[in-house]
Amino acid sequence: MENIKTAAMKSTLKNIAFVCIISLFIINCSVRKSNPTESIAIKNEMVRNGQIQYMDHCQKCHPNGEGGLGPALNSNPAPGFIKRFQVRHGLGVMPAFKKNEISNEDLHAIIKYLSALKHS
Ligand code: HEC
Repeated sequence: MENIKTAAMKSTLKNIAFVCIISLFIINCSVRKSNPTESIAIKNEMVRNGQIQYMDHCQKCHPNGEGGLGPALNSNPAPGFIKRFQVRHGLGVMPAFKKNEISNEDLHAIIKYLSALKHS
Protein backbone atom coordinates (compact mmCIF):
# COMPACT_ATOMS: atom_id res chain seq x y z
CA MET A 1 0.00 0.00 0.00
CA GLU A 2 1.27 3.49 -0.78
CA ASN A 3 2.47 5.53 2.10
CA ILE A 4 0.04 8.39 2.87
CA LYS A 5 2.89 10.91 3.05
CA THR A 6 4.22 10.13 -0.45
CA ALA A 7 0.71 10.18 -1.85
CA ALA A 8 0.11 13.64 -0.35
CA MET A 9 3.46 14.87 -1.67
CA LYS A 10 2.73 13.58 -5.15
CA SER A 11 -0.59 15.35 -5.25
CA THR A 12 1.00 18.60 -4.00
CA LEU A 13 3.62 18.35 -6.74
CA LYS A 14 0.90 17.77 -9.28
CA ASN A 15 -0.96 20.85 -8.04
CA ILE A 16 2.17 22.98 -8.23
CA ALA A 17 2.88 21.79 -11.76
CA PHE A 18 -0.70 22.51 -12.73
CA VAL A 19 -0.58 26.07 -11.32
CA CYS A 20 2.75 26.70 -13.10
CA ILE A 21 1.41 25.58 -16.45
CA ILE A 22 -1.73 27.67 -16.08
CA SER A 23 0.28 30.75 -15.06
CA LEU A 24 2.67 30.34 -17.97
CA PHE A 25 -0.32 30.12 -20.26
CA ILE A 26 -1.88 33.28 -18.80
CA ILE A 27 1.40 35.21 -18.90
CA ASN A 28 2.03 34.12 -22.45
CA CYS A 29 -1.39 35.32 -23.54
CA SER A 30 -1.20 38.64 -21.79
CA VAL A 31 2.23 39.69 -23.11
CA ARG A 32 1.59 41.72 -26.21
CA LYS A 33 3.98 40.65 -28.90
CA SER A 34 5.06 43.49 -31.12
CA ASN A 35 4.84 42.79 -34.77
CA PRO A 36 8.26 43.49 -36.33
CA THR A 37 6.94 44.23 -39.82
CA GLU A 38 4.47 46.70 -38.33
CA SER A 39 7.22 48.67 -36.56
CA ILE A 40 9.38 48.75 -39.71
CA ALA A 41 6.40 50.16 -41.59
CA ILE A 42 5.94 52.86 -38.93
CA LYS A 43 9.64 53.72 -39.09
CA ASN A 44 9.58 53.94 -42.88
CA GLU A 45 6.52 56.15 -42.72
CA MET A 46 8.37 58.42 -40.30
CA VAL A 47 11.47 58.58 -42.51
CA ARG A 48 9.27 59.50 -45.49
CA ASN A 49 7.62 62.31 -43.54
CA GLY A 50 11.08 63.36 -42.32
CA GLN A 51 12.29 63.62 -45.89
CA ILE A 52 9.33 65.82 -46.87
CA GLN A 53 9.96 68.10 -43.87
CA TYR A 54 13.68 68.16 -44.60
CA MET A 55 13.08 69.21 -48.21
CA ASP A 56 10.84 72.00 -46.98
CA HIS A 57 13.05 73.38 -44.24
CA CYS A 58 16.65 72.16 -44.45
CA GLN A 59 17.46 71.21 -48.03
CA LYS A 60 18.42 74.68 -49.19
CA CYS A 61 21.34 74.92 -46.76
CA HIS A 62 22.18 71.25 -46.21
CA PRO A 63 21.50 69.83 -49.71
CA ASN A 64 20.76 66.08 -49.41
CA GLY A 65 22.55 66.02 -46.08
CA GLU A 66 25.75 67.32 -47.71
CA GLY A 67 27.48 70.56 -46.88
CA GLY A 68 26.16 73.72 -48.53
CA LEU A 69 25.68 76.98 -46.77
CA GLY A 70 25.52 74.79 -43.64
CA PRO A 71 27.83 71.88 -42.81
CA ALA A 72 27.21 68.29 -43.94
CA LEU A 73 24.72 66.47 -41.70
CA ASN A 74 25.01 62.95 -43.08
CA SER A 75 28.38 62.49 -41.40
CA ASN A 76 27.43 64.31 -38.20
CA PRO A 77 27.74 61.89 -35.27
CA ALA A 78 25.92 64.14 -32.76
CA PRO A 79 22.99 62.42 -31.01
CA GLY A 80 19.42 63.38 -31.95
CA PHE A 81 18.82 65.70 -29.01
CA ILE A 82 21.79 67.89 -29.99
CA LYS A 83 20.45 68.19 -33.53
CA ARG A 84 16.97 68.98 -32.22
CA PHE A 85 18.48 71.65 -30.01
CA GLN A 86 20.30 73.13 -33.00
CA VAL A 87 17.07 73.24 -35.00
CA ARG A 88 15.02 74.75 -32.16
CA HIS A 89 17.59 77.39 -31.25
CA GLY A 90 19.60 77.96 -34.41
CA LEU A 91 23.26 78.91 -34.33
CA GLY A 92 25.22 81.38 -36.41
CA VAL A 93 23.56 81.76 -39.79
CA MET A 94 21.19 78.88 -39.19
CA PRO A 95 17.73 80.11 -38.24
CA ALA A 96 15.79 78.67 -35.29
CA PHE A 97 12.64 76.74 -36.11
CA LYS A 98 9.88 77.00 -33.53
CA LYS A 99 7.11 74.50 -32.89
CA ASN A 100 4.66 76.36 -35.11
CA GLU A 101 7.04 75.89 -38.05
CA ILE A 102 8.20 72.32 -37.32
CA SER A 103 6.15 70.25 -34.83
CA ASN A 104 7.94 67.96 -32.36
CA GLU A 105 6.70 64.99 -34.34
CA ASP A 106 8.07 66.38 -37.61
CA LEU A 107 11.39 67.23 -35.99
CA HIS A 108 11.73 63.65 -34.73
CA ALA A 109 10.96 62.50 -38.25
CA ILE A 110 13.66 64.78 -39.68
CA ILE A 111 16.23 63.31 -37.29
CA LYS A 112 15.12 59.78 -38.29
CA TYR A 113 15.54 60.79 -41.92
CA LEU A 114 19.05 62.07 -41.21
CA SER A 115 20.06 58.80 -39.58
CA ALA A 116 18.57 56.89 -42.51
CA LEU A 117 20.73 59.01 -44.85
CA LYS A 118 23.76 57.97 -42.84
CA HIS A 119 23.09 54.26 -43.35
CA SER A 120 22.36 54.44 -47.06
C1 HEC B 1 19.55 79.24 -43.79
C2 HEC B 1 20.34 78.06 -43.90
C3 HEC B 1 20.03 76.88 -43.01
C4 HEC B 1 18.86 76.18 -42.88
C5 HEC B 1 17.52 76.48 -43.54
C6 HEC B 1 19.12 75.09 -41.98
N1 HEC B 1 20.41 75.13 -41.56
FE1 HEC B 1 21.32 73.83 -40.27
N2 HEC B 1 22.99 74.96 -40.31
C7 HEC B 1 23.20 76.07 -41.09
C8 HEC B 1 24.49 76.64 -40.79
C9 HEC B 1 25.11 77.87 -41.44
C10 HEC B 1 25.06 75.83 -39.77
C11 HEC B 1 26.38 76.04 -39.06
C12 HEC B 1 26.08 76.87 -37.84
C13 HEC B 1 27.28 77.27 -37.08
O1 HEC B 1 27.94 76.37 -36.54
O2 HEC B 1 27.51 78.46 -37.01
C14 HEC B 1 24.09 74.77 -39.52
C15 HEC B 1 24.28 73.75 -38.61
C16 HEC B 1 23.42 72.72 -38.41
C17 HEC B 1 23.66 71.60 -37.52
C18 HEC B 1 24.90 71.40 -36.67
C19 HEC B 1 25.92 70.76 -37.54
C20 HEC B 1 27.29 70.78 -36.97
O3 HEC B 1 28.13 70.06 -37.55
O4 HEC B 1 27.53 71.54 -36.03
C21 HEC B 1 22.59 70.79 -37.59
C22 HEC B 1 22.39 69.45 -36.87
C23 HEC B 1 21.67 71.38 -38.53
N3 HEC B 1 22.20 72.56 -39.01
C24 HEC B 1 20.47 70.83 -38.89
C25 HEC B 1 19.53 71.49 -39.65
C26 HEC B 1 18.20 70.98 -39.89
C27 HEC B 1 17.67 69.63 -39.39
C28 HEC B 1 17.55 71.91 -40.63
C29 HEC B 1 16.12 71.88 -41.08
C30 HEC B 1 15.13 71.85 -40.04
C31 HEC B 1 18.48 73.00 -40.88
N4 HEC B 1 19.66 72.70 -40.26
C32 HEC B 1 18.19 74.14 -41.62
C33 HEC B 1 22.33 76.60 -42.02
C34 HEC B 1 21.02 76.21 -42.17
